[in-house]
Amino acid sequence: MSERPRITVVGAGNVGATCAQVLAQRDYADVVLVDIKEGLPQGKALDIDQMGAVLGYEPNVSGSNGYGESAGSDVVVITAGLPRSPGMSRDDLVQTNEKIVGSVTNEVVSASPDAILIVVSNPLDAMCHVAKNVSGWPKERVCGMAGILDTARFSSFIAWDTGSSVKDVTAMVLGGHGDQMVPVVSHTSVGGVPLRKLVPEDRIQAMVQRTAKGGGELVELLGTSAWYAPGAAAAQMVDAIMLDEKRVLPCTAYLEGEYGIDGLYMGVPVKLGANGIEGIVELDLSDDEQQALQASAGAVREVVGVLST
Ligand code: NAI
Ligand code: 2OP
Repeated sequence: MSERPRITVVGAGNVGATCAQVLAQRDYADVVLVDIKEGLPQGKALDIDQMGAVLGYEPNVSGSNGYGESAGSDVVVITAGLPRSPGMSRDDLVQTNEKIVGSVTNEVVSASPDAILIVVSNPLDAMCHVAKNVSGWPKERVCGMAGILDTARFSSFIAWDTGSSVKDVTAMVLGGHGDQMVPVVSHTSVGGVPLRKLVPEDRIQAMVQRTAKGGGELVELLGTSAWYAPGAAAAQMVDAIMLDEKRVLPCTAYLEGEYGIDGLYMGVPVKLGANGIEGIVELDLSDDEQQALQASAGAVREVVGVLST
């Protein structure tokens, strides 16, 4: 057996395979891709491994229709489930994906009882509740990916608008992964200069709106939801945990009073390291941002309310 640590990605579709490919290229762990479709995880794993000969990483991905090969994983990313089609909201997926995420979580608990779970399947905040309730694991070990993606979209729009490098944009998108997400303009800067000193309010609000509807924009173009940025965003969370980076990243975490929200998964800045969520960072928000966060929490609660788990 390999001595490398192991990461499992469940769902070898668009997002899962992209996440596995980014992790394979990082070259510090073995990656197991699991999917119910026969041949799909095996074929994508083989293809990603052969890509290593071109890009210069060792073959380290295997594919499976079961969880035997994934046993003892340190981190498990759940991307299994249906994606959006044009006209669908993320919340339309709730019942179908609740069943899928629930059954996948049960398998993960048996195969990798000490893992940290990163949920990607939509509707994201509600699916984190499913994974936490089904696993019974502590909140530190069950988190979700959305904020890194939403922040990447906001940062891209700001870089394009200001003619700056995206590397010099500092931004943060909080709240639920829905149209009521909250790009935190008061904490957004380019090269250390506050966004509001660089860009007039009407253009900022246009970027805020485009970010909030950023997933829908891609669904309209692609006929299904995005995968490159989502897969890379999930891999960034895996890196932070596996390499104990203590990064502060916007992730979906279970709140117990932080930001005045109790008993709900929401996107907030968290410190992410070897123990999973090692802390929640509480930013000073403007009154408008605080109100918007409460409205976003209300929208998440509505979806969580229809779960049967
Ligand atoms: P996809 O359809 O390309 O892949 C999903 C895969 O899950 C399929 O290969 C399917 O066979 C597999 N699957 C279904 N049931 C399974 C089960 N019980 N066990 C193992 N595998 C199973 O979809 P895509 O584009 O990869 O999206 C996956 C999910 O991620 C969707 O729910 C989508 O809405 C969500 N998503 C979330 C984002 C976020 O920011 N949180 C961003 C992008 C997508
Ligand atoms: C996205 O934001 C649909 O959640 C998916 O691209």
